[in-house]
Amino acid sequence: MKKIGIGIIGTGFMGTSHALAYRAAGGIFSGEVAPELISVADVDRAAAEKAYHRFGFRRYTDDWQALINDPEVDVVSITTPNKFHLEQALAAIKAGKHVHCEKPIAPNSEDAKLMTEAAEAKGVITQVGFNYLKNPLIKLAKEMIEGGELGEIVSFRGIHAEDFMGSPHTPWSWRLDPKGGAGAIADLGSHIIAMARYLLGPIVGLNADLETVIKERPVALGASELRKVEVDDIARLTVEFARGCKGNIEANWVATGRKMQLGFEIYGTLGGLHFTQERFNELNLYRSEGNGGHHGFQKIEAGPEHLPYGAFCPAPGHQLGFNDLKTIEMAEFLRAVGNNQASGPDFREAWEIQKIIDATLVSSKEKRWVTL
Ligand SMILES: NC(=O)c1ccc[n+]([C@@H]2O[C@H](COP(=O)([O-])OP(=O)(O)OC[C@H]3O[C@@H](n4cnc5c(N)ncnc54)[C@H](O)[C@@H]3O)[C@@H](O)[C@H]2O)c1
Repeated sequence: MKKIGIGIIGTGFMGTSHALAYRAAGGIFSGEVAPELISVADVDRAAAEKAYHRFGFRRYTDDWQALINDPEVDVVSITTPNKFHLEQALAAIKAGKHVHCEKPIAPNSEDAKLMTEAAEAKGVITQVGFNYLKNPLIKLAKEMIEGGELGEIVSFRGIHAEDFMGSPHTPWSWRLDPKGGAGAIADLGSHIIAMARYLLGPIVGLNADLETVIKERPVALGASELRKVEVDDIARLTVEFARGCKGNIEANWVATGRKMQLGFEIYGTLGGLHFTQERFNELNLYRSEGNGGHHGFQKIEAGPEHLPYGAFCPAPGHQLGFNDLKTIEMAEFLRAVGNNQASGPDFREAWEIQKIIDATLVSSKEKRWVTL
């Protein structure tokens, strides 16, 4: 079994999720890889120390460069705010470490290009945190589309809506820092764009409207001083796929009541699919032929036949959770590191997604169709 030393930079929402996932990932493709939590870094030293105790890392630091230089660290996970991804990824690549970076890969496609080209030149394995693609039912949806079960695809409707920025009292934070890139279109839109590309292939053109709904926010929780918001709260896109069909995509972080509505509807000449992450153990399929004359969508429930569900649970209908998707993601990444063969979505794919995000900014500002 190949031992792989793990270093995680950042200990927030994603740092925690990565640590949980790496701990469990060895059990997915059992016997192939043995991840070992070596080091955790955070600018907040107390947070790093807390993660060290909680997850059983061997050491902690407030110096991410020291983590990268650690000879026992083979893989670096970057879970910091977007504006730090470039510097940290380039340093890790320079040190010959394999890199997992959270999405969006970078604030803009120029940074994403630098990261991709550096990684490919050095020959390290990369992956980016598009965890929702790792759902076994999303893999099934892709197989159905590619197998022709839906016929010719004629339309895509995708949305990623949450409400964590919905209140005007929610203060300014790193997610609103333009140095970190765009707003909802980068934070949430990157996920649904990744999903659209995964299922239907490249997007070749788009028209976008980006809107900032809440124009000022408190500088801190409860503060009366306000700071201007310079990024989008809602992005509405019309897109064209290289395969010929068109679709609509919305990214929205002020969608009051929605906590995790990453969803899509795909229509083909022979059938339709609909899915929402709110009920992500279900995929809904409609067949216009061979349905015995009975109309309506069939609800397909996730079960052990949808690999690697069975590595978590032998019984159908018991359901996977968010961190299980992260575990599958990390297991695939570690297997790729072990085999020295990328599994993806890698930096190059994330760069393609970033080009689409950049194009939405141009389209919205210049009020025109942008060809990619
Ligand atoms: N894949 C997903 O579903 C998903 C979900 C949420 C966030 N994300 C992405 O993960 C990244 C982090 O988001 P989060 O929600 O975990 O943020 P967070 O604010 O919860 O955590 C960020 C952590 O990074 C630390 N940090 C900040 N600057 C640092 C630096 N220069 N060096 C070291 N540590 C530093 C902070 O102290 C904090 O612990 C972002 O890129 C975000 O878009 C992905």
